Amino acid sequence: MFNLQRIIHPVEPRAFADKYLGTAPLLVLRQSPEYFGELFSMADLAALIDAERLRPPEIRMAKHGEVFRTETIANTLRAGRYVLSGKAKAVRVWREYHAGATVILQSLHRHWPPLQRLCDMLGNEWLSQAQTNIYFTPSGGRGFTAHADGHDVFVLHLSGTKSWTVYQKPHSAVGTGAKQKARGYGRLLKQDPTELIPLGRFTLRPGDLLYLPRGYVHEAAANAEPTLHITLGLAPHRGTYWMRECIAVWCLWLAGAEVGAALRGDPRWTSLVLLAAASTALGLSGGLHFLLKANWSYRLARRPNLAMGVMQRWVSVNVVVRSVVYVAVLDLCLFGVLW
Ligand SMILES: [Fe+2]
Repeated sequence: MFNLQRIIHPVEPRAFADKYLGTAPLLVLRQSPEYFGELFSMADLAALIDAERLRPPEIRMAKHGEVFRTETIANTLRAGRYVLSGKAKAVRVWREYHAGATVILQSLHRHWPPLQRLCDMLGNEWLSQAQTNIYFTPSGGRGFTAHADGHDVFVLHLSGTKSWTVYQKPHSAVGTGAKQKARGYGRLLKQDPTELIPLGRFTLRPGDLLYLPRGYVHEAAANAEPTLHITLGLAPHRGTYWMRECIAVWCLWLAGAEVGAALRGDPRWTSLVLLAAASTALGLSGGLHFLLKANWSYRLARRPNLAMGVMQRWVSVNVVVRSVVYVAVLDLCLFGVLW
């Protein structure tokens, strides 16, 4: 299974954290074309497009920095500013691709098991949220012009060759006259490369890795053959995530307090009702999230061993670590209430 150590190999995680994380780009040229092969492939991509299971914005297209309107690749229904989109039509996607547009599969980790496991692993390792975007570019194509991203990215190159230019980080944040995006996913802004000093020009081949900290301006173009790469984004968890975690801990604290009160023969009904409501909300949201993920895995990957996959997810590192922390908190609460 891939984790950070395997992604950046042969660089050691400690050296990566000291020298590169958040401060400097890292380039690993490893001449091992199959290194990332188990994560995704050209055949997987073609099958996903041809099966017409993806709905914008899960699939998008861009050319020279311009993202296509949803109507270009899917049937839509507009109601004011709301757009209901159907599944992307394979014939339209391939037509635009052959006209030079890049295919972008956004957040495929939500329903592609190898990428799902990768993001879960990295999210747990770094206490961050990890997400993937897949970029499939025709020969000579360029999806986006020079820009900086609002989060750290790892580029895992899978197929073809792509020429990259990374520029020195501007002193005045990223550009002038533009509102800088708060830390999180997304592009900070487009850049005029003539105003920037190149830091390095290089070619990525299958198996190579590029790490770019947030804010480094970069651009890339496919060479003589179609290219495929995964962009793995790492960003700190948003406030809603931590709010959920806090509510979960609060539920455990309430539970501990209530057990203590019940043992003393004096249950407090108000906090019991609060506890029931909060834990039900948490359970419903967590359960819904889990069921949706399992459903996507089943429908898209068509895995016959879904039951085993479900069990593996429940016994994942994420669940075990979180359970240990919560049990420790519960013990502390019980200790405080009873003694
Ligand atoms: Fe980017």
